[in-house]
Amino acid sequence: MKRFILAAIAAVALGGAAYADTIKVGVIGPFSGPFALQGKNFKAGIDAYMALNGKKVGNDEVEVIYRDVPQADPAQSKALAQELVVKEKVQYLAGFYFTPDAMAVTPILKQANVPMVIFNAATSAIVTKSPLVVRTSFTTWQTSTPIAEVAYDAGVKKVISVVSDYGPGVDAENAFKAGFEKQGGEVVQAIRMPLSTNDFSPIMQRIKDSGAQGVFAFLPSGPTTLGFVKAYNENGLKAGGIKLFAPGDLTQESDLPALGDAALGMQTTFHYAISHDSAENKAFIAAADKAIGNPAELTFPAVGAFDGMHVIYKMIEATGGKQDAQKAVDAVKGLSWVSPRGPVTIDAESRHITQNIYLREVAKGSDGKYYNKEIQTFEKQGDPGLAAAK
Ligand code: PHB
Repeated sequence: MKRFILAAIAAVALGGAAYADTIKVGVIGPFSGPFALQGKNFKAGIDAYMALNGKKVGNDEVEVIYRDVPQADPAQSKALAQELVVKEKVQYLAGFYFTPDAMAVTPILKQANVPMVIFNAATSAIVTKSPLVVRTSFTTWQTSTPIAEVAYDAGVKKVISVVSDYGPGVDAENAFKAGFEKQGGEVVQAIRMPLSTNDFSPIMQRIKDSGAQGVFAFLPSGPTTLGFVKAYNENGLKAGGIKLFAPGDLTQESDLPALGDAALGMQTTFHYAISHDSAENKAFIAAADKAIGNPAELTFPAVGAFDGMHVIYKMIEATGGKQDAQKAVDAVKGLSWVSPRGPVTIDAESRHITQNIYLREVAKGSDGKYYNKEIQTFEKQGDPGLAAAK
């Protein structure tokens, strides 16, 4: 009997040492429909990270499970998050391209004991909805504040603002207005369009009629941004000298071939350009190009996902693979690393990423390809929208 018990203890001890868990990460994003390319970039960023850093953290194997929410749909996002937690037993929720999809999931995090790592959704307030949210993308406050300074310095004093009528659009409108008025400029009119708008001709007419010298615009990257910049060109605004100022969502690299010369010279501010010149970005691009298959499809959600996986790996490391959402989040507060976009830190208080914001101009390379050329750096930008979000 005694020998049997000893043998049993030894077996448990040995088994324990060799025992490896599978840590599941549930990723929600648009993997089909009009925004499928953005979701494909989530996957490319994740695959690139795992190709460069392995699929294991300690003894534990990381498994990523994908769920598709094609368009902003908070009810579907919440239902899928619940299914991932209850049925799949994921220890982490991640992804979230659209703000409403992230917002809908924040109320379940605490009870589920699961952190949420946001790879894209950019409304400032999301991080205030739960202490278990960490964000590795950007906010539209963060990207739209510097472009106000750029617009004013370009000699434009009267601007009309045009945004999609939901969280990140309203934030972008407020950020631009605050920054532009601080410089001494005036926002003569502020238009909010339904998220579903895809005929922009009437909007272009209103811009012309407003008498503004420039237009500030935000729409979520995808078919709509492509349509908006095309309409700006085709309706004669560019030729008429009305300057377009925007965060980089409007000139994502995957849209540049379709925009062609229409976007040439357009200035945007953003956290990441595919052309960013650094060793870290070269390594990322090589792995992400391989992951996505067609390098022309690579765009910014891939870097949000790549850095998001870095945060999740650090969380798994800090908790030894055990499910402890608060401990996982606490472990990445103040975490700094060099991202493909440049140096970044997870702000210990807000849990949002502090990063450089770059002014870029759409240029044509010697290879005939269009790209976002970085021409100025606004260093170590936190989120100016958090005060407004509280
Ligand atoms: C968002 O819904 O928060 C969002 C989506 C796409 C963007 C920016 C923000 O390009």
